This record gives sequence, C-alpha cells and structure tokens, in this order.
Amino acid sequence: MAFQLLKLVLTVLQFQLILTDHCIKRYFDQNSFVCACDTRSCPSIPGTTRPPKGYIDQWISSSQHRFNFTQIDLARLTKPLNPPTLVITLKLNDRRQTIHGFGGAFTDATRLNLLTLPMALQDQIMRDYFSTDGIDYSIGRVPIAGTDFSDRAYTYDDNNDEEDLELKHFALQHEDTNLKIPMIKRALELKNGTFRLICSSWSSPGWMKTNGKLVGAGYLRGLPGGRYYKTWAKYLIKFLDSYAEEGINFWAMTTQNEPDIAFEVSDFSFQTLLFTPENMRDWVKYDLGPELEKSGYGKDKLNLLLLDDNRQLLVNWTQVILTDETAASFINGIAFHWYKINNEPHYDELNVVHNNFPNHFLIATEACEGYQSSSAIKAQLGNWTRAETYAKDILEDLNRYTTGWVDWNLVLDTKGGPSTDGNSADALILVDTDKNEYYRNPMFYSFGHFSKFIPPDSVYIGHQVQGNSAGVYLAAFEDPSNQMVIVILNTNDNPVDLVINKFATVPVSITLDGHSIQTLITPSSNVN
Ligand SMILES: *[C@@H]1O[C@H](CO)[C@@H](O)[C@H](O)[C@H]1NC(C)=O
Ligand SMILES: *[C@@H]1O[C@H](CO)[C@@H](O)[C@H](O)[C@H]1NC(C)=O
Ligand SMILES: *[C@@H]1O[C@H](CO)[C@@H](O)[C@H](O)[C@H]1NC(C)=O
Ligand SMILES: *[C@@H]1O[C@H](CO)[C@@H](O)[C@H](O)[C@H]1NC(C)=O
Repeated sequence: MAFQLLKLVLTVLQFQLILTDHCIKRYFDQNSFVCACDTRSCPSIPGTTRPPKGYIDQWISSSQHRFNFTQIDLARLTKPLNPPTLVITLKLNDRRQTIHGFGGAFTDATRLNLLTLPMALQDQIMRDYFSTDGIDYSIGRVPIAGTDFSDRAYTYDDNNDEEDLELKHFALQHEDTNLKIPMIKRALELKNGTFRLICSSWSSPGWMKTNGKLVGAGYLRGLPGGRYYKTWAKYLIKFLDSYAEEGINFWAMTTQNEPDIAFEVSDFSFQTLLFTPENMRDWVKYDLGPELEKSGYGKDKLNLLLLDDNRQLLVNWTQVILTDETAASFINGIAFHWYKINNEPHYDELNVVHNNFPNHFLIATEACEGYQSSSAIKAQLGNWTRAETYAKDILEDLNRYTTGWVDWNLVLDTKGGPSTDGNSADALILVDTDKNEYYRNPMFYSFGHFSKFIPPDSVYIGHQVQGNSAGVYLAAFEDPSNQMVIVILNTNDNPVDLVINKFATVPVSITLDGHSIQTLITPSSNVN
C-alpha cells in the first residue's frame, strides 16, 4: 500500500515537468548559452526519425542553435554557384572499426548532484542521457568504489589497518546501494537498445599498498603472483559478483584507472594505484586473467581492457604487454583517456597501436574539460569552444580506429564538484543545487551529435579529402539499420562550402556555418 502510494506520488511529480519544444536559453556570458531546465519549463530533446529515400535529415548545432532540424530533399538540392572549397568523397569499400558506443560515468558526484533536485528533474536528466528523447547513451562507466569525484575516499575492504587477505570484510558501501546502483538500474530501464557497462577501479584498500593508504603513489605490495596481487584480482571478481546479484552485468572491465598518473603528477592526492607496464603484464598473466576465467568472466563474457590512461602511454604499454602471448590472450581491447600531457594529444599513437595489434580494439574511456591546470576555468556555463574541443577530439579518435568514446561525470554542480579534495572539472550537465534547476552545456549537444545518431554496431567508412580542410573534421558511418551517417565539425570563424560525394544518390552540397557541428543521415540505399 505504501509502495502504491509512493508510486502515485512519483507519477504526479513526473507530470509536473512542463516540456517546451525549444531551448530555454540562459546566457552566462555574451557569446553562448546553456539550455536551462526547471520544473516549470524544460526543453525537450527531439527523437530521431528515419529520413525517407531521396531525403537527408540534417541536424545542426552551433553557438546559435541546438539540434536544429531540417529535411533536405535531394531532388531540390541546388548546385553550388562557386566551386566548393572542400570536396569529401566517401570510400564505401573502406569499412573499418565497428562502433561499441558512446557514454559517460555513474560517479558518486553525479548522483549527489541529482539528489539535490526535485524527482521530476532527476528523472529528466536520466532521460536526457539514456532515452531516445535524449542523447541515447549506449555506454555507462562505473567506478569500482570511490574516485576523486566521491565525497570521501573508500574501498570495499577498508578494514582499519588490518590485512584481510581472505576478503572476509568485503562489502559494497552505501554509495553503491544509494547512489550508483539506483542510477544504473534507471538507465537500464530507460534504455531501449544495446547498453554496455564498463567498470574501473581507482585504489585498492590501503593495506594492499606499498604506501599503506588509498591516496597517492603506491603499488600493490609484493610481486605479481604473490598474495597481494592475487587478492586484488579476487577483490575485483567479488565486485563483479556483487553487482551481478543486483542484476547489473558488465560488458567490460579496465585493468586499472590511470595506473601511471601518480608518476606524472607530483604530490598526487587522489585515490589511485600504480602499475608499471611490466607488473601489469605479469599481474594479468598470473593473477587477473586466470582468476577471471575461473570465475566465469573469461574474455568471451567480459571484455578486459588494458591501460585506461592517456594516449602518450599507448605505444609503450601495448609493446610490453601485448607482445606477451599469454598476457595478450586475456585482453580484448585498449582503453585510453583524452588528457593531454604538455598540450600534446599524441593522436598518432592510435594508428601505431592499431597497426601493431589489430585484434585489440581501441576505446576512449574518460574525458573532461577544465582539467588543464589549477588555474584553468573548471566548470563553465555555455562555453561553445568546449563543445568544439569535445567534437574535435572524438573525430580525431574515430578517424584512428577508435570504437567508442566515454565522458567522465554525467552531472556536476556549477562549481564542478563535489570531489574528495577540491579537484573540479566541467560536465555536459551542471546542476544549480540552490535553484532547483540544471543546465545543458554546449558540450551536451556536440556529444549528442555522435551518441544520438551513431548507434552501437555502426561501421566506420573511410573518406578522402580534396581542397582546404583546415579547421574541418568529419567521420562517416553506416548504421545497423542501413543508414549513412556523417558528423562534420567546422571550427573556423567563417562558413565553409562543401560537397560530399558517395553519401547520397547525388553529390550533396552544403554550407557549414562558422563554429558549427552537423549530423547528416540518409538511407544507404540512396548510395550508388
Ligand atoms: C533553425 O535554423 C534556421 C536557420 O538558421 C533558423 O531560421 C531557425 O529559426 C532555427 N530553428 C530554431 C528552432 O532555432
Ligand atoms: C524500442 O525500439 C524498437 C525498435 O528499435 C521500437 O520499435 C520501439 O518503439 C522502441 N520502444 C520504445 C519504448 O521506445
Ligand atoms: C617509452 O619507453 C622508452 C624506452 O623505455 C622511454 O625512453 C620513453 O620515455 C617511454 N615513453 C613514455 C611516454 O613513457
Ligand atoms: C572556453 O573553454 C576553452 C577550453 O577550455 C578555454 O580555452 C576558453 O578560455 C574558455 N572561454 C572563455 C570565454 O572562458
């Protein structure tokens, strides 16, 4: 009875939300805006439709627009007056990687921010991300215990200072039962289609570590094959089992979040665990790989992803680990993060690693704006440049065999938190915890140009460029329901005239507005 009543109240609260068909623009500086949502007015996000034969659906976002929709009738397409600056020709036989998906992370901070909002807004944010009337995420990353975006440091066996090599005290924490699991379950309910969960650990319990605590530079004690490395593998399996009991099954696990970061950042004060490529190789080979197999999480059940750290490490780590036949046999893919060290993105490492190890797929597993330095602007409302840095990075990765792209915190507050030690960052959605409202940043829409329109199992199609492509980035796909999809970003101030060949039955001439991103969709049967 109480439950029925609760359900009724929830339903009523849901209906309080009034959806509008246009962005409710809120300017925090003169240049660009966020789309604001409160219970009295919240912009809906249009679902997608299938363009009929002979038409192209065109979605445009820019510093002026968000998901502006037009249907182009190919029969009425006019020839350009001037020769175009840029000609793109799709190479239909150059079919490369299959897409695994796009998504973000179910951090503790995400749910702490959601809980400050009325129920109807909490659920609208979940819809924004996970439904087709949203940007339709197909991947969720789940931290194993605490991260820097939690409100305390914790693991599942912080047994005071005592060792617990048998993991007798292993237990999920209130963050799992009250924060993460409810969010994941709601996403699973909303999601109609493939949804893939990836889990990653930040720190082991302090008693397993050489520095004795959750934060800062410490390795597991002893050597791979030894007690601590073995116990750490068993701990991860207990996590997988505990979530499975909740009906939450993972598609992938990374071997460790940012195993190198405490080497790179001096005075590192987050929860972390160090590995060298050599002890990672041996741990996978002697402990993690065999334990996963023994427990029913072999590589055909759960994808094991290597690295989960920045691109500049890709070549060395794969060289050490994937040249070892046994270690390589347990690993399905290679995860990497977007953060640039000394402003150098190291994109070419993706091609090198793909060429060296073509049977191990590449996937981007973490990104956020505002990380650059302590002086960088962390969370920011309405910065369109960040929409472009996201889109550019995604396109650079997709053009180099990357199969998916996962953002960091789904939701932060307007200061870019909360976090354990004042670390803060930007996010696609920011909540004003005092005002009962939230904001969709420009990045939400630019990322949506990928996540909403390139479903899992789409295949990357190569392309050729003629003319001046400076500042223009694009990638093309065929989706599993036989539609061609192309995403194009123009980072220039000026418009660019463009012709796309082999996308539709006729060459498609369009203009890319300055500082805009667009997604074009047309039935593949149009292609001749
Ligand atoms: C979409 O873009 C066109 C062309 O710039 C503009 O006229 C129209 O108002 C836009 N629609 C919305 C809903 O902003
Ligand atoms: C789920 O997807 C299927 C096919 O993709 C579609 O026919 C159906 O209407 C969708 N259901 C909902 C609730 O969106
Ligand atoms: C990769 O390994 C080489 C040889 O050990 C070393 O000189 C180089 O600094 C390493 N690069 C990175 C990015 O760690
Ligand atoms: C917007 O973000 C970019 C990238 O982080 C930054 O360089 C720029 O200064 C920001 N713009 C403003 C107006 O703060």
